[in-house]
Amino acid sequence: MGDGFATKVVHAGEGRGKPYDAVTMPIVQTSTYAFANTQAILDFVEDKEAGKFNLRGEYGRYGNPTQTAVEEKVASLEGGERGLLFSSGMSAITTVFLSVLSRGDHVVIASSIYRQTVHFVRDQLSRWGVEATFLKDGEVDSLEDSIRPNTKLIFCEAPTNPYLRVIDLDRVSLIARQHGVLTAIDSTFATPVNLRPLDHGIDLVIHSATKYLSGHNDLLAGVVIGSCPLLAPIETLRGVLGCVGSPHDAYGLLRGLKTLDLRVRQQNESGQQIAEFLEAHPRVRTVYYPGLKSHPDHAVAVRQMTGFGGVVSYEVAGDVDQTGRVIDLLRIPYIGPTLGGVETIAQQQALFISRDPVKRASYGISDSLIRYAAGIEDPRDLIADLDQALNSGAASKEAAA
Ligand SMILES: Cc1ncc(COP(=O)(O)O)c(C=O)c1O
Repeated sequence: MGDGFATKVVHAGEGRGKPYDAVTMPIVQTSTYAFANTQAILDFVEDKEAGKFNLRGEYGRYGNPTQTAVEEKVASLEGGERGLLFSSGMSAITTVFLSVLSRGDHVVIASSIYRQTVHFVRDQLSRWGVEATFLKDGEVDSLEDSIRPNTKLIFCEAPTNPYLRVIDLDRVSLIARQHGVLTAIDSTFATPVNLRPLDHGIDLVIHSATKYLSGHNDLLAGVVIGSCPLLAPIETLRGVLGCVGSPHDAYGLLRGLKTLDLRVRQQNESGQQIAEFLEAHPRVRTVYYPGLKSHPDHAVAVRQMTGFGGVVSYEVAGDVDQTGRVIDLLRIPYIGPTLGGVETIAQQQALFISRDPVKRASYGISDSLIRYAAGIEDPRDLIADLDQALNSGAASKEAAA
């Protein structure tokens, strides 16, 4: 079929000869599957126990052909043996944690990452007797010292949300292997267009497919990619927890993935242009984007990634209210959470945490930070819009100092 990434996003996971000669993968909208007779059930169970793959399914919580197609596509894009679809990024992440870790185990986790992942490890996993060590921002140097005899998992995110830190995955996987520890990464911000963590020795790749992979701000989904033996217990737990993606969302994701390469290449281009523009702007205090030389992880990012995505985080000159004003003055983006879709979305992330400044500060996210997630609009329009909002809403750096 061809090995190019742009060919795979269209064709991988979708064989020819679909029902009714349809070109697109049908949405197989069924909650269960009928068996012709008792012998058919016995044959099915025999195949299952022999580990033989069977597309026909048994019950919707365990699988669906539309879901299988999208799982094969994402596995192919990440260069993994298998993929699993989940109902959201968080259900993918939490099922991995719950599957890999047991009472008395220890996990090492990067700290400046998606806050609900931190919340799950700190406030939920701890209730089940799992200990955690949080690494400081981008700190691979302290990783080795954090590993204990009971460490079972190293979990990182790259680039991180919202400061876009990029950890050195070759070093992470080398240290993990030396200590016999499993590694998992939330690669949502990178996408397989820009980063292929399995090629760097990471064991499990997770995405909130709600973001770039589906790309249209119209569904929630998550995926996990890795080897068949590693995914088997995760799949079993998914079947028990019931957090599988629906056939409709599987179809939406399948459709969104077909333009992943085109969309993300545009978002890489827009992200870089926007970051450079903001860095030179007199009303912007700091810009966080791995494609900028000023970013602390620029060298690692250049070595390990082929593009840096559409998310640019920046601090405007001014306080919490001025930052809100700058956001309100933007004309193109929607204001809200999420990223990676075709529509640009901006948010003052701290305000989503709490109205209490002390609580906000405890998350380490600056009040004047804007996370700007470029869509696929013309970057010239986005930049002109950013410029007018900053000029009318923010202070100059000198006045704000
Ligand atoms: C990096 C990252 N991981 C995971 C998630 C959670 O994904 P979902 O909203 O699909 O559960 C998010 C959501 O914002 C995210 O930004």
